[in-house]
Amino acid sequence: MRKLPGTGRWLIAFAVAFAAGGLFIQAESNGDSAAAPPAVVLTPPPVASAGTTDPSAAAAEPPSLPAAEGPATKPATKPSTKPATKPATSKPATSKPATSKPTEPSKKPVDPKGTARVAQAASAWAMNNLPSKTVERSKNGTAVITNPSSLYVLVNKERNLPSSYVPKDLTIPDVPFSFSGDSPKKQMRKEAAAALEKLFDGAWKAGIELKAVSGYRSYATQKAIFDRNAKAKGAEEANRTSAHPGQSEHQTGLAMDVSSASVGYALEESFGGTKEGRWLAKHAADYGFIIRYPQGEERITGYTYEPWHVRYIGKEAAAEVARSKLTLEAFFDTLEASATKA
Ligand code: DAL
Ligand code: ZN
Repeated sequence: MRKLPGTGRWLIAFAVAFAAGGLFIQAESNGDSAAAPPAVVLTPPPVASAGTTDPSAAAAEPPSLPAAEGPATKPATKPSTKPATKPATSKPATSKPATSKPTEPSKKPVDPKGTARVAQAASAWAMNNLPSKTVERSKNGTAVITNPSSLYVLVNKERNLPSSYVPKDLTIPDVPFSFSGDSPKKQMRKEAAAALEKLFDGAWKAGIELKAVSGYRSYATQKAIFDRNAKAKGAEEANRTSAHPGQSEHQTGLAMDVSSASVGYALEESFGGTKEGRWLAKHAADYGFIIRYPQGEERITGYTYEPWHVRYIGKEAAAEVARSKLTLEAFFDTLEASATKA
């Protein structure tokens, strides 16, 4: 573990600040980032169907098994008044981080101490959870995540949660759901659940009525969902919208699928164009969530546009990622690439 030299830190800061569209992040780390290997990038899937409704999406994420997905039959209820497979083949870094323009090291920020300190603290969450530092190979060569309980865990087609991983603090958020009755999929981790309540409360106050559709899923449930989708449309096509077991953020308890009456509580791309979907995209980060699978990013995230899938990463991280306009993969990738160059 070596400490990054002072100049190296500034180079990282400039590279990230550029790639993040002006966000200044001092890439100070626990010291060993310079040894990080190139960041992983997901295998390019078939051409994304950006901008179109994906009728398969709803089927990809049924609210539970064996219950069928479908619009809620009950009238909307007012939200509570409480505050409110196989791993893909690795490739070199994504184009976004890789195309970061080199900056001139001689240009220093106006307030090097103050700005750097804030930026340094703000990026610590990312540097402490770099993908290259939070993965190990199992005996059969599978990439297994070593920080599954971190709020900042990166789960995707190249990074598998341990099949036995179950969050310890699952709870049911006090928000309206699109279905009635008990179900494990109502759960989220405690902090994420509290944040979801605040998000729903904020939406309600803005005249936006959201409902939660699907949260926590065990490895076994995800396997059942994926197998069903794969049987219906083939594994490759299914994997554009549905994660292999171990590769779903729903297993972390940090994700929730959200929808609205305007689309019959379906999980489909058209939700992104509704006033509810637009509100969600605009305000999710205020409550610590990101839209994890943005439109047009299938090549990077591995999944088609999912305007309904919000992932909790905390307010600080969500603000940085949202401001960067990068996917979580590309955000981490940028830091990895910068750290390697430094
Ligand atoms: N639909 C997302 C990718 C999942 O299955 O976790
Ligand atoms: Zn989801």
